[in-house]
Amino acid sequence: MNEVLSPLAWSHGVLALLDQRLLPTEEVWREYRDHRDVATAIREMVVRGAPAIGCTAAYGVALAALQHADLDEAIALLAATRPTAVNLFWALERMRRVAPRTPEALVREAIAIHEEDIAACKAMGAHGAALLPAGCVLTHCNAGALATGGYGSALGVIRAAVARGTKLEVLADETRPFLQGARLTAWELMKSGIPVTLITDNMAGHFMARGKVQSVVVGADRIAANGDTANKIGTFSVAVLAREHAIPFYVAAPRSTIDRAIADGRGIPIEERAPREVTHVGGVQVAPTGVAVGNPAFDVTPAKYITAIVTEAGVARPPYGESIAALFE
Ligand code: MRU
Repeated sequence: MNEVLSPLAWSHGVLALLDQRLLPTEEVWREYRDHRDVATAIREMVVRGAPAIGCTAAYGVALAALQHADLDEAIALLAATRPTAVNLFWALERMRRVAPRTPEALVREAIAIHEEDIAACKAMGAHGAALLPAGCVLTHCNAGALATGGYGSALGVIRAAVARGTKLEVLADETRPFLQGARLTAWELMKSGIPVTLITDNMAGHFMARGKVQSVVVGADRIAANGDTANKIGTFSVAVLAREHAIPFYVAAPRSTIDRAIADGRGIPIEERAPREVTHVGGVQVAPTGVAVGNPAFDVTPAKYITAIVTEAGVARPPYGESIAALFE
């Protein structure tokens, strides 16, 4: 577990989170001993990315157990932080089912969830690496080590492709409004020595039209039973552009991101975040005071735009109703 970059670390009853709000200019680790502070950290995006949120919430429950807090209340509080990433609810459900509910058993389960997520990312890399042709792969948001237990989902596939010798460079969408691409993906890839070029979101079509993009790979926050995929706002537009230019569009996500209880994308709850994320950039106001703002944090890419979904259990292809079900057999 130690050799991979991870945005969270557990040691002797303390959870440490890399404060992703401060990247790339400051690398600050914060320590958490109270599950209420962990809930605030998730809500305020100290930690973000679906699998990383799930791992963090699991450690939050472990902290609550160590403090002899009411576990059902702690789970409810952690569940109320962010609505779209289903990994949060999946991890909390795993913690809720631990029996007996001793602090030791809950700590063990949280560590298992974290370690399994890293293993799942590496398996996604192994399954997905061969899908990426040499050249340029475009990604949106940050589905990297920072967004997972470690290694990354979409960036894990890219890491694995580079490791097997595919000559790849990455085009990273900046990902307005929270700038996960500019701040996090660019930082993470540069740290890993993988060539990356940062573009603004509205440049993707231009580069695709000029033949500069050979594939797209993104992560996911929740995948419905039919393959419709919620991911960071702007993903849907990238998928439509990819289709227009006959570029394969891949989603990489662990099975903990698949919500088979939801038939299609219409059932996926979409988080609406504060207007300030849109009216301000880096704390500087860029829009008139009082302007009406829309800020959905995610959109849904219909399954018909998705070439394949890479999971730790293999690669699902259309028709997704069948291939997704097969991943769980
Ligand atoms: O709002 P965020 O930063 O939590 O959104 C993150 C994303 O949309 C990621 O692409 C997704 O969670 C997959 S992370 C492996």
